Amino acid sequence: MHDVNDVLQADGAKPELVALVEIILGAAKHIAHCVRQGALAGVLGSTEDENIQGETQKKLDVIANQILKDALLENRQVCAIASEEEDTSVAGNPAGTYLVAFDPLDGSSNIDINGQVGTIFTIYPARADVACDSELQFHQPGIQQLCAGYVLYGGSTLLVISVGGATRCFTLDANGNFVLTEAELQIPADTREFAINLSNQRFWRSAFKRYVDDLIAGDTGPRAKNYNMRWNAAMVGDVHRVLMRGGIFSYPSDSRNPSQPAKLRLLYEANPMALLIEGAGGKAFTETQRILTLQPQTLHQRVAVILGSANEVEACLAYLK
Ligand code: AHG
Ligand code: MN
Ligand code: MN
Repeated sequence: MHDVNDVLQADGAKPELVALVEIILGAAKHIAHCVRQGALAGVLGSTEDENIQGETQKKLDVIANQILKDALLENRQVCAIASEEEDTSVAGNPAGTYLVAFDPLDGSSNIDINGQVGTIFTIYPARADVACDSELQFHQPGIQQLCAGYVLYGGSTLLVISVGGATRCFTLDANGNFVLTEAELQIPADTREFAINLSNQRFWRSAFKRYVDDLIAGDTGPRAKNYNMRWNAAMVGDVHRVLMRGGIFSYPSDSRNPSQPAKLRLLYEANPMALLIEGAGGKAFTETQRILTLQPQTLHQRVAVILGSANEVEACLAYLK
């Protein structure tokens, strides 16, 4: 029992849900091929456009979005999709029972430097009380996710996925099959590693700055141990490291831009990662509450994120009280 189909069904996923995951994985394999080809396929560099969030779109952002969108909208089970690279949600089959949201390519600034990038996805049940073309379909708290995962295009292409229970890791083999390679990820409760973009510290609230100052103070400070720092500039890479060996990852709220209190998006970044982290025994919070219980207000809503090793997340939250 090593393939995605068998593992997810044993985890309690319905065959239709697993079939939908297989479609996402088919698209991800296509994206993996484009990422691997890089300059040979002419896919590096930027487009002339920005997405609705004011970010420059890289060519591969647009290509990956189109690959996922085309594959998903062909499927009769899909009621609607939402993507970082689409202004609004996109309606599928009104009788479809699933919603899919995705960050087609996370870590865009890594594309042109051959760094880690990945696809983050989440599946929700479609709401019968809301039209399929309404973005209200997606205003569901993360706790309602039926499945969440990412495909990391790194040294190996990996799938990390949960259907609400354990978080499992598969590796793409030479035959194009995802093979179970870590049956049950477990994040150690304690850590000595943090992933935070320190260049933003002048924009942080003072309590968060105090927390990070105390990490940096190491064994001479109140935390009484030395910490190491890692930053991938791709949430998918940073979260993967936390899942594999523990750590804390945070992108806190900041005051850089008053219309944008935080950077990461709730629907297709924070919520799927929160489900995976909790499935591996970690914690995932905003500065005040469990991410999975937040009631979304808008499609591209941004939230502060603090996730990873349970005791370290608790220690961080204690500074913010
Ligand atoms: P995306 O490439 O999908 O826009 O997401 C990038 C996000 C996230 O992956 C990462 O943790 C963060 O932005 C990096 O931010 P910095 O530019 O501050 O390093
Ligand atoms: Mn992203
Ligand atoms: Mn992206």
